[in-house]
Amino acid sequence: MSQQLGPFTADRIYRGDALELMRSIPSDVIDLIVTDPPFAINFKAKRLNYNREGSNVMEGYVEVPADEYAAFTYTWLKEAYRVLKKSGSLYVFSGWNRLQDILDGLDKAGFQTINHIIWKYQFGVFTQRKFVTSHYHILFVVKNPRAYTFNKMEHYPEDVWVINREYWKGKRKTPTKLPSDLVKKILLYSSNQGDLILDPYLGSGTVAAVSKELGRHFLGFEIVEEYYNFAADRIMATEQG
Ligand SMILES: C[S@@+](CC[C@H](N)C(=O)[O-])C[C@H]1O[C@@H](n2cnc3c(N)ncnc32)[C@H](O)[C@@H]1O
Repeated sequence: MSQQLGPFTADRIYRGDALELMRSIPSDVIDLIVTDPPFAINFKAKRLNYNREGSNVMEGYVEVPADEYAAFTYTWLKEAYRVLKKSGSLYVFSGWNRLQDILDGLDKAGFQTINHIIWKYQFGVFTQRKFVTSHYHILFVVKNPRAYTFNKMEHYPEDVWVINREYWKGKRKTPTKLPSDLVKKILLYSSNQGDLILDPYLGSGTVAAVSKELGRHFLGFEIVEEYYNFAADRIMATEQG
C-alpha cells in the first residue's frame, strides 16, 4: 500500500497549480524536494499566461510574469519548508535572471544554504554582443544544517557540475527537460532508498521517473495537461528500482 499524504497518494502525480496543491500536503512528510520552477523568462514558443492551461501543443509552457516572480517564489518556498521533514533538503534550479528572488525567498522561508552549485551544460543560445549563457544555478538548502542526508559518493565532490543536456531526437518532448544524470546525482547524494521526493513543477517528469528508477517514492504536480500526460506515460514506462 502506498503512503497516504492528506488527499494525495505517494507514487502518483497530480495535475494542477502547485501553489494550491502544496497547501494540502501534510507538514513534515517529504525527505527531499528537487525542482526546476518556471523562471519568468520570455519563452518565445507559444507562451501562455500564468494560470492559463495548455491547449494542444507541448510548447504550452506556463510562465510567471517577472513582476510577480518574487511573490510566486516565496509562496511556494514557504510551503516547501513546511512540508519537508526536519532533516529534509531542497534543490532548486534558477537561471541568473531571477536568482535574486530565489535567494531572497529561500532566506525568508527559513532555509539554510549548504551549496550554491553551478550546472554547466552545452547548447547555450548564440549571442552577438554578450557571453553565451551555458549554466544554471542550483541552490542546495536544508532546514537543519546539523541533520540532513549527504551520501558522499566521491572523494572530492565539487560544486561545478558539467553535465550535458540530452538529445531526444525525433521524440516528443517538453522544452526544458533536465538530464536524468543530473537528477540521479542529486538523488544519490541527498536521499536514500524508500525516501519520499517531491517535485511541484514536474514538466516532463524527470524527477519522478528517476525517483522511481532509484527505488525512492515520489509525488509531483504539473499544471499543463500535455506535460502532465507526458510525465505520467514516462513514469509508467519506468521500471521500479
Ligand atoms: C522548468 S519546467 C520543469 C522541467 C522538468 N524539471 C523536466 O525535467 O522536464 C517547469 C514546469 O512547471 C510548470 N508550471 C508552471 N507553473 C506551474 C504551477 N503553478 N503549478 C504546477 N506546474 C507549473 C510548467 O508548465 C513547466 O512544465
